[in-house]
Amino acid sequence: MRHRRDAIPLTRILSPLGSYVCIDIIEPSIHWCTKSISARHPNFRFLYFDAADQLHNPGGKMRTRDIRLPLADGSFDRIIVQFVFTHMLRDEIVHYLAECRRLLEPFGLVYATVFIYHDAILGKARATNLTPFNLRFAHEVGPGCRINDSSHPLGAVAYSNDALHEMIGWAGLRLARPLLKGALSGYYEKPDDGRDVAVLEKEDCFPVKVAMSRAGRSTCHGEPSPTGLRGNPIGAGRLSKDCTSLILEITVV
Ligand SMILES: C[S@@+](CC[C@H](N)C(=O)[O-])C[C@H]1O[C@@H](n2cnc3c(N)ncnc32)[C@H](O)[C@@H]1O
Repeated sequence: MRHRRDAIPLTRILSPLGSYVCIDIIEPSIHWCTKSISARHPNFRFLYFDAADQLHNPGGKMRTRDIRLPLADGSFDRIIVQFVFTHMLRDEIVHYLAECRRLLEPFGLVYATVFIYHDAILGKARATNLTPFNLRFAHEVGPGCRINDSSHPLGAVAYSNDALHEMIGWAGLRLARPLLKGALSGYYEKPDDGRDVAVLEKEDCFPVKVAMSRAGRSTCHGEPSPTGLRGNPIGAGRLSKDCTSLILEITVV
């Protein structure tokens, strides 16, 4: 679910042994990336799904819940879902989280941006109004789920901590570290990232306190993260030229 913003910098970091897959429901965007990026870097693939979405593909012919990504189980080190769950209702989030779980290798990690709310966060967000989107999340549409604009329900969707944890648990995932605190609401004095971020791992992944460099692949230390991830929350600041999915060096703590 990442576009050219990440794919282009990654073409300079991943060797032909590494690979990158992006999915989206905007056909022209996927077509552009395939024509402009995959043509030169065949290990970068862009997959289009004609899934209906009020904002991005209103005429789509399938439901997100029916998408099964044509990718092998356990074949990804890292999955980035950036600014996507912030526009989705519960069923679709749980569906994609379950797909993430299926695709993750045992110690893989997911980086997913979300909007988390509680009363104090809502109060601060309304008082500071730091974004151009007038994020007030005034409409509660289900337990622990609020939308910002009832005429565009998927424009911005926020969840309570409990609701987020419930979705993560249903999908067989868990937080690999405490939620990263986002700057958008103005609530946190020292935010970790722009949006709130859930860094997830498989529920049955036992903790190991080692940095693993897998045999047969060389690492390329010190490359800047092209994902814009601050604080290196999924170890993305060090990317390998030779990883077989996204990132070679896995640090699971
Ligand atoms: C706010 S944009 C973020 C784009 C990109 N991830 C980024 O960080 O710049 C939301 C993206 O989610 C995609 N999207 C929306 N619904 C989707 C779905 N059901 N499946 C896959 N992608 C979806 C949209 O097409 C759009 O590209």
